[in-house]
Amino acid sequence: MEHTGFFITLEGVEGAGKTTQRHRLADVLGDNVLVTREPGGTPLSEQIRDIFLTASTMSATTELMLIAAARAQHVTELILPALNAGQIVICDRFSDATIAYQGYRKGIDLKLIEQVNHIATGGLTPDVTFLLDLPPDIGLQRKRDSDEPLTRLEHETLASHKKVRAGYLAVAESEPHRVQLINAQLDADTIHNLIVTESKKRIQLSQTS
Ligand code: TMP
Repeated sequence: MEHTGFFITLEGVEGAGKTTQRHRLADVLGDNVLVTREPGGTPLSEQIRDIFLTASTMSATTELMLIAAARAQHVTELILPALNAGQIVICDRFSDATIAYQGYRKGIDLKLIEQVNHIATGGLTPDVTFLLDLPPDIGLQRKRDSDEPLTRLEHETLASHKKVRAGYLAVAESEPHRVQLINAQLDADTIHNLIVTESKKRIQLSQTS
């Protein structure tokens, strides 16, 4: 999809450090930056996020439909207008998360996910994705050590989170140019420097091409 902005996404298992990195990246990329997250980002999508994360039980199909609804609103109301205005958009999770969480974790057919993602995004794909890769037991321990209460998904078994990681690694393997794999066990400053260097390089390239 043609636009004049630059679209960066951050992905990873629970506790991989995406939230810290998205804010640190935004701080160095200047004023023309929109920082957002999925599910969420708009008032309606944030309402869907609450339902998604706090329901006691949820079928795989319901998960997929809620995520897609939140994404459709997010893309239309916030992400695309920003990209069309030439902004850099940094989004914490996007379509790859649906492949990892609803595809690999919940077992929904990957072709169907591709179709639903396409409907929700209108074909919008990130210009670059940073996958912060981490063994899920380490990420979950980080979550347990923090003050934040655990969400519905964070309460799931280690086996479930291992499927998520495997899904993300499969995405990285299938799109090695777009998806930059980063070892999330490195220290936060090193990760930040890697992300900043790669983002600046690609933003510059996109402006000259
Ligand atoms: P967050 O805590 O990183 O903001 O993510 C919220 C949760 O939503 C996280 O457990 C992953 C889940 N999720 C999906 O299951 N599918 C998706 O497509 C997205 C974007 C998030």
